[in-house]
Amino acid sequence: MSRYDTDYSKMGVSTRAIKLANGLDPITHALDTPIYETSTYGYETAEEYDEMLARGAEWEEGIYIYSRTTNPTTNVLEKKVASLENAEDAVITGCGMAAISTALFSFLDAGDHVICSDDTFMCTTSLFGDVLPAKGIETSRVEILHLEELEAAFKPNTKVVYLEALSNPQLKLANIPEIARIAHEHGCRFIVDNTFLSPICMRPLDWGADIVVHSGTKYYLGHGDALMGVVAGTKTDMDRVRYYYDNFGSHISTFDAWLALRSIKTMPLRVRQQSDSAFKLAKWFEARPEVDFVSYPGLESHHQHDIAKKIFVDDHFGGMLCVHLKGGHEEMCKFCDATKIPPVATSLGDVVTLMFPKTAYNNLIRLSIGCEDVEDLIADFEQAFEQMKNNG
Ligand SMILES: Cc1ncc(COP(=O)(O)O)c(C=O)c1O
Repeated sequence: MSRYDTDYSKMGVSTRAIKLANGLDPITHALDTPIYETSTYGYETAEEYDEMLARGAEWEEGIYIYSRTTNPTTNVLEKKVASLENAEDAVITGCGMAAISTALFSFLDAGDHVICSDDTFMCTTSLFGDVLPAKGIETSRVEILHLEELEAAFKPNTKVVYLEALSNPQLKLANIPEIARIAHEHGCRFIVDNTFLSPICMRPLDWGADIVVHSGTKYYLGHGDALMGVVAGTKTDMDRVRYYYDNFGSHISTFDAWLALRSIKTMPLRVRQQSDSAFKLAKWFEARPEVDFVSYPGLESHHQHDIAKKIFVDDHFGGMLCVHLKGGHEEMCKFCDATKIPPVATSLGDVVTLMFPKTAYNNLIRLSIGCEDVEDLIADFEQAFEQMKNNG
């Protein structure tokens, strides 16, 4: 057996992030996965082509007809992501919303009902508020921390329970094992958006979810330079998702797939450092007199800290934290304007710390902690508090 045929699938998460599915290119022996920048694939004869079409329709691995459907660069990424999610299979899409909408439309038809948690990313909120109902799919929103509310929301036509594991923006942590049990008791699929945690902090499939989705734009890519989405689960479910993905045209560009392959190699390193720094900062903010409250699942004050202790990997509580200052809108603006390291910007999961002041959420400041030296971040936030004091 060649050294390049080593099975890395049972090895640790960092080894898998670096080694799994990257092998020698069969033609050139390129050690790193090349970018297969081609839209179509040529065959010798009409008969050979017919056979390939038939095998491609069954989603057979290694069959390439057209790059909207399958592409060798993207296939390597699919294998790596599936392994990191502990999934049988994964489908990679052009962005997180493509992953979410493709997953939902794969398992919901007109006349079905879906239950969604109450705190979700803005576009997901529009999807459940507008887009799905306009297509004849009933939606209910529930306070996901109150499981009796979830129980009461099921109807005979409920097909899917959907939520964000750690919610955007309020950082509510859902009880994934309990909700999986309840969803399955009602014969429903359980789909979890795990964007805010990444598979390095928590893997929903390990705790009973059927499908995990991500905005891979965030921790997977991690450098704020490309877009990507992930859907992962069983092979049977992913074959269905792939059918919809092919018809919707939700695919990722090969260049972005290649960027993702490059970024994933450092995802465990990045996310562990982001988690360590976020934990330090959460404790630091909590001790500041200017701060009203801090929301971070690693803090004992977080209402679902016990769930985090149970389901998070090795006490990595993630890089997302929210801070609410004493006072109101003016204090939030003064503080954010006085910082020098984090830009005021949307998105998250980057090596760069990002700060999103949320007027609409009672002036909550959402911080996505990056990989800068945490001492520099603390010094920056400290000088921002000083400036606020000095400027009255
Ligand atoms: C929790 C969550 N899910 C999905 C998305 C959408 O991802 P994308 O921007 O890659 O489409 C976002 C974007 O911020 C998000 O925060």
